[in-house]
Amino acid sequence: MKIGIFDSGIGGVSVLHEALHRLPNEEYIFYADVDHVPYGKKEPEEIQGFADAIMQFMIQKGVDAVVIACNTATSVAVPFLREKYKNLPIIGMEPAVKPAVKMRGKDRVLVMATPVTIRENKLHDLLQKVDTEHSCDLLPMPELVTFAEKENFSDPAILDYLKKQSASLPHPISEYSVVVLGCTHFNYFKPQYRQMFSEDTSFIDGNAGTIRHLADVLGLKLTDEVKAVRKETSQACVAVNEEKVSYYFSGRPVEDEKELQIFKHLHERLEEVRSF
Ligand code: DGL
Repeated sequence: MKIGIFDSGIGGVSVLHEALHRLPNEEYIFYADVDHVPYGKKEPEEIQGFADAIMQFMIQKGVDAVVIACNTATSVAVPFLREKYKNLPIIGMEPAVKPAVKMRGKDRVLVMATPVTIRENKLHDLLQKVDTEHSCDLLPMPELVTFAEKENFSDPAILDYLKKQSASLPHPISEYSVVVLGCTHFNYFKPQYRQMFSEDTSFIDGNAGTIRHLADVLGLKLTDEVKAVRKETSQACVAVNEEKVSYYFSGRPVEDEKELQIFKHLHERLEEVRSF
């Protein structure tokens, strides 16, 4: 099947990466809306317009389903898109608050996301449903999107920024046993989170759940386990890139070898941090 995956930028590669692991036999169109990133600081109507244009692009490409690999776009656009494109399965993403609350024990949960996701009703409705003991605190981390888009994954400024943002939290960092990565761009920085939070803190994102849901909707069977070792998997991702994934920057095909290398490096980084 042909599956369209889109995000404001490279965050969605983490969702594609999970898809390549669990559904390696499908064909993918990956669309990074780099002309309009970051979505997380924009107005909902504007984001809806970008998402609508991307849906039309995906339809022209003949996809069987679209994954919105972006919590921000999902929070403002998913009802509108489902209403408009009734015949196409649209899989959205939302911060993995439900499993986080189940896992927390007696500790607190930290939900990191973009300012738009944190502001929108979708997240607050979800919290009202699942966070009955008010154990979740919300923290916007917009600059992580900027670091990610520059493929800047090891700058000491990242840790400084995390510390600065967390200073406003109502509880000490040591009280958070689960951190929800509520933006797909945040996956790249797991080593920095490890330096900041307690050793036994868990970091959860919505990627695995999203791909399980996609498989369910399309009636596809997930591969049982990730069999390949790290290096081989990254190479395989790049190998399948050519055959199995077509990359687009805001609608423009990525064909240039130098640009394709960006995606190779992103897959390598994601493979490195996969088990953090
Ligand atoms: N990756 C997106 C998300 O999951 C948003 C990043 C942005 O463009 O601000 O929310």
